[in-house]
Amino acid sequence: MSTLITNIAELTTNDDPEVLTDAAVVLSGDRFAWVGPAKAAPPADTRVDAAGRAALPGWVDSHTHLVFAGDRTAEFTARMAGKPYTAGGITTTVTATRAATDDDLRATLRRHVAEAVSQGTTCLETKTGYGLTVEDEARAARIAAESVDEVTYLGAHLIPPDTTPESYLDLVSGSMLAAVAPHAQWADVFCETGAFDESQSRSVLTAAAAHGLGLRVHGNQLAPGPGVRLAVELSAASVDHCTYLTESDIDALANSDTVATLLPACDLSTRHPLPNARALLDAGATVALATNCNPGSSYTSSMAFCVATAVLQMRMSVAEAVKAATWGGARALRRETEVGVIRPGARADLHILDAPSATHLAYRPGVPLTWAVWRSGAPVRPPRE
Ligand code: NIG
Repeated sequence: MSTLITNIAELTTNDDPEVLTDAAVVLSGDRFAWVGPAKAAPPADTRVDAAGRAALPGWVDSHTHLVFAGDRTAEFTARMAGKPYTAGGITTTVTATRAATDDDLRATLRRHVAEAVSQGTTCLETKTGYGLTVEDEARAARIAAESVDEVTYLGAHLIPPDTTPESYLDLVSGSMLAAVAPHAQWADVFCETGAFDESQSRSVLTAAAAHGLGLRVHGNQLAPGPGVRLAVELSAASVDHCTYLTESDIDALANSDTVATLLPACDLSTRHPLPNARALLDAGATVALATNCNPGSSYTSSMAFCVATAVLQMRMSVAEAVKAATWGGARALRRETEVGVIRPGARADLHILDAPSATHLAYRPGVPLTWAVWRSGAPVRPPRE
């Protein structure tokens, strides 16, 4: 079964050329079969007229925490009244998550995935990290693997208050890791004051790498710190947040394969400054944008909001922001040959906007512009009438 989507005014491919005008694509099975000028398009079984709209790869949201229960509206309200965000808020969600049934967690996860897909997200990573016991972390990873593309083990999210750091580190790098690893591709650590220090973070990440997991780091979120340096030292695929960077952090990222994943919705919601995307890009670092959707620090699934914020407030161009939210996220997950790109052979993940160009994502912030979404060749949000 093949589908021709034609009359695309502006097609962002993240390939060569990066943008095509008056374009068409053919989807065959779960892959793109053809990409090029509309006037040269081959026939297909069905045809969709994009009628002058813009199309781009589906968003790749490479940083979320979607296996959770409970609500932190009160913490958010207190924060808006001036109370600072601290890592300790995570325990509220841990308590609620442990008390939830598998079906509760599964339903909440699926609701948030559906919410993201309806806004154009076609590739999602999510993390454990609200269980913090062997059983609860393994169940979070198992449930996550049913609904998302990539699962990250984040047992090192916080040291639970009823545990000593030594015994918890043994657990995270020992039996908890062994229980979660079969359901996960990645391991992560919250390397920050109030969570895990540099040497604790290094030992967790080293143990995870020995188990065959790829590495990611939460770093430099609330203050300058060792997270970026450690991520680069251990060749992590990404270091996420990057809100407080020194020149040497920027230099290290620019000379590495570690992606700087920026989470602007989180910085806004926690009342921290926005990251210095311009310095990272100008130095040559690879930048990704992601939502960090979670109930504490960033409760949004909107990649479009992150893109608009990056353009309006972080001095990224529209092209840079769209690339960071598609190809950049894919690179952060080491999947850039398959997703976040539109070329023959890539996964047929396509997002059509009800607008003539991607510029409208920033020009019309807050407006729901998604017109249609295909994921692996299937119309997960069929074209609006
Ligand atoms: O990426 N920073 C650590 N983890 C999440 C926040 C989790 C929470 O507050 O529940 C984050 O912001």
